[in-house]
Amino acid sequence: MFLYFCAALLAAISIYCSHFYKYPHPRFPRGYIGLPVIGFLYYFIFQNNFIPMLVKLKEIYGDICSVQLGSYKVVMLNEHNVIREAWQHPAFAGRSKLEGVLVRSSGFRGGIIFNDGEDLLEQQKFTKKTLKDFGFGRKSMENLILEEALELVQSFRETNSKPVYTGHRFDIASLNSFYVVVTGERLKYDDPTIHQLIHVLNKNFELSDGAIIGFLIPWLAWLCPHLIGWNKYVLEVQEIFSFWLNFAQHRLETFSGSYPENFVDAYIQRIVETKDPSSSFYGDIGVKSLATTLQDIFVAGTETTAATLNWIFFLLAAHPEVQKKVFNEINTVLGSGDDKTLPTISDRLRLPMVEAAIMESMRLGTIAPIGLAHRTMEDIHFRGHFIPKDTLIHSNIISVHFDVKLWGDPYVFRPERFLTADTSKIQNFRYFLPFSHGKRKCLGESLAKDELFLFTTCMLQEFRIKIPAGNKILLRPRIGISAVPQNHQLVFEPRN
Ligand code: HEM
Repeated sequence: MFLYFCAALLAAISIYCSHFYKYPHPRFPRGYIGLPVIGFLYYFIFQNNFIPMLVKLKEIYGDICSVQLGSYKVVMLNEHNVIREAWQHPAFAGRSKLEGVLVRSSGFRGGIIFNDGEDLLEQQKFTKKTLKDFGFGRKSMENLILEEALELVQSFRETNSKPVYTGHRFDIASLNSFYVVVTGERLKYDDPTIHQLIHVLNKNFELSDGAIIGFLIPWLAWLCPHLIGWNKYVLEVQEIFSFWLNFAQHRLETFSGSYPENFVDAYIQRIVETKDPSSSFYGDIGVKSLATTLQDIFVAGTETTAATLNWIFFLLAAHPEVQKKVFNEINTVLGSGDDKTLPTISDRLRLPMVEAAIMESMRLGTIAPIGLAHRTMEDIHFRGHFIPKDTLIHSNIISVHFDVKLWGDPYVFRPERFLTADTSKIQNFRYFLPFSHGKRKCLGESLAKDELFLFTTCMLQEFRIKIPAGNKILLRPRIGISAVPQNHQLVFEPRN
């Protein structure tokens, strides 16, 4: 009996391994498979070599390759022209249908980030236009961000030049400035909603433990959900979805029907006016779409901006010589001491060194090292390869941002690389891709740039930032679905 069991087990293992190590088509891109069951996921779990390994993929396998990510053979695009070409092509514009994605919105597949096809186009078009109408780029929004920036400055003044952990210190400012633009409501700093939202948004983004395993090895999530932390993840994401669903429902019930003054009310008005049952704005589906869209833009917009601010201040603290140049520029353009004026978005052109420092921080601290997974919507022949329908594809943005041939000294923090020779203007590069490119490009790029500029400038008008004596500088990020800086201590010393 025991022998039969062993034989059956061996047979099952060899069938599993032959499937695991086999490519789906002779012309499917070749690449890294690694250990059975986890494959490349090894580098997510044991984080030390994650970034170096992504950089190596291009050196070893070229511009297009594949990696075995848990149960999936995922295609990696390692070169910027390849990424741009693919992300512009409609066949590459789908999103993953993994179980873990559906769990986060109680089985409903709507909204933006994980949606595709007709529904997505409808939601994307409305969201882009309405966010623009009600906030992005408007003077009123600029003032709201500035108010938050000043609150942030005040909160750092209160640290009295003592070392502080910066980990989640930018979360509230980032969440609040966005929340008020989108919902028309301002959250007080002691409102429990803020802390509940931030807690779950961070969970969504870090995804560093069981959740990522459950996403990519679904049978483990089914077999031992407690052990890998899957149940915990499910509870947490369901909590955030219920939050947004209740929020959407409440706003629908209290909608006055008058002229909408913010994104949420404009969305509700669209739901109320939609009579076509096939529309993603119709009835209950419309309410769920609103909840998912809010969940999406808050997940995508809050932690990304906060993590980028973390990188900016950390890298500036590690490079006092760059801070000096930034201070000089800020003093010259905005004045200093009692004569200084607050920055406005139009000052971005007049403060190229600040912009360059932000861009260089976004390159060196690339928070989305492999972007978000895309999915092929049909079988496709691409640059000599065959990629079947429903294959997951990532852009290896970090390998582009750390490419020696493109940047010369990619591991050095040198903001001047983004300045023209006379240092008077910003120069951009086709291979600088922090917000990705093409059909699924970041929807909040312009808001993010404005926020980063206003927050950074206000903080640098006030503080010289230092790494406490004796503390180590740890460039290696913490990896989840994003790469966030380690939770390090910094000193914020008043400049005047
Ligand atoms: C520094 C800040 C940010 C960075 C670095 C960033 C980066 C990215 C990246 C790399 C993607 C994936 C694109 C792809 O799949 O090819 C993305 C998608 C997205 N981002 Fe951002 N983002 C930031 C801030 C924001 C903000 C403030 C919003 C708020 C509206 C936002 C909303 C979105 C949305 C909705 C998507 C999904 C787009 C789609 O699926 O079509 N992001 N972002």
